[in-house]
Amino acid sequence: MTGALTDFGVNANSDVYYTGHYWNDLDQVRRMLNERVSGDPERTWVEHFAQRVGRTFERALILNCGNGHVERGLVEQGLVRAAVGIDYSVELLAEARAAADAAGLPLTYHQMDTNTAAFPDGPYDLVVNFAAAHHIARIDTVFRALCDLLPDDGWFVSWDYVGPHRNQYAHEAWEAAWRVNRTLPEALRQEMRYPHLPTMLATDPTEAIHSELILPTFDRYFRVDEEVRLGGAIAYLLLTHNDRLHAAPEAERAPWVERILEADREYCATHPDDSLFAWFTGQPDKAVLADAALLARWREEEDEREAAARTEGGEYYPHTALQDLTLELEAQRVATDHARIELAETRHHLEHLLASFPVKQLKAVAASPALRRARAAIGRRVGSR
Ligand SMILES: C[S@@+](CC[C@H](N)C(=O)[O-])C[C@H]1O[C@@H](n2cnc3c(N)ncnc32)[C@H](O)[C@@H]1O
Repeated sequence: MTGALTDFGVNANSDVYYTGHYWNDLDQVRRMLNERVSGDPERTWVEHFAQRVGRTFERALILNCGNGHVERGLVEQGLVRAAVGIDYSVELLAEARAAADAAGLPLTYHQMDTNTAAFPDGPYDLVVNFAAAHHIARIDTVFRALCDLLPDDGWFVSWDYVGPHRNQYAHEAWEAAWRVNRTLPEALRQEMRYPHLPTMLATDPTEAIHSELILPTFDRYFRVDEEVRLGGAIAYLLLTHNDRLHAAPEAERAPWVERILEADREYCATHPDDSLFAWFTGQPDKAVLADAALLARWREEEDEREAAARTEGGEYYPHTALQDLTLELEAQRVATDHARIELAETRHHLEHLLASFPVKQLKAVAASPALRRARAAIGRRVGSR
């Protein structure tokens, strides 16, 4: 590839992954997603894809494989014979390797920054993007290389977050989720905090780095077979990282989860572009690789975009009004927290001073006969003047 790598395309801290509760940990959500992909709540995307393409694959490349659960499933279900997983995180790759070894599966792993597009040698007949591409900064470079890497009859299969860049949700969608949240019983309500960009940049600068470019870039290099919006504008916001709801007994939360999913269906039907997740599959469109001028223009666009972000501390776009408001509120919250801490410290200090003040001794001295005699003597002297 040409052009410098973005400084924001890698994240060595794997602690941020596989933590907390996700919306698709819930059975009801998985059934809803299955239904949107396959038309049947019981049929998963793997089963749907297998049936649709009517074939199996010899060797798959798994993008940003994490702990390896996706490729283990693909091999165990017989869709894929062998697979190569790539990821940046050494710890997650070690986990994936250990699990594959323990299960005796033909899976190998390779540590790399996906943005380099320097993939382990093929051949591959399938590329799998499961919740991976939304962490890729050089999305054009990577999808172009994958188009080149796959044979004409190869497949790219994808299930991913394709919502707003760095989760900076549209005002209307945020409002809609907020309103649904208010209708939930207090004990199941989400603590809604608009994603705070500086915190995201500090904890995982790759999160949703170019989620907004995934579908348009996929369309550049692949002949689309299926492209299905999976929703999430409301349900993802209210059900992901909602610890209280996930901890509630199934019978208590189920009707409310259903209500949230219904609100999600209604909202996404009228606002399809606010859908946060998508299922999309396709085959390489090799013709585009022959258009040198177009490829050069796309490369230049990407180089310029990444270079500009480097000078802007990782920010790619002007702030929205909601984003500015969030930054202001967050700054006020931090200032208030600091003031509260200072007040508590001053109170503590005062209490300590009072506690160490020798009140008892002073009272004893004041009541002593010697002091009384001295006071009386002073009084007499002053009076005789
Ligand atoms: C949301 S996790 C998904 C993991 C896996 N696909 C799954 O579904 O469990 C994102 C993964 O992307 C990896 N990642 C992020 N940036 C990367 C990069 N530049 N190169 C390679 N892997 C990267 C992370 O280490 C993490 O494993």
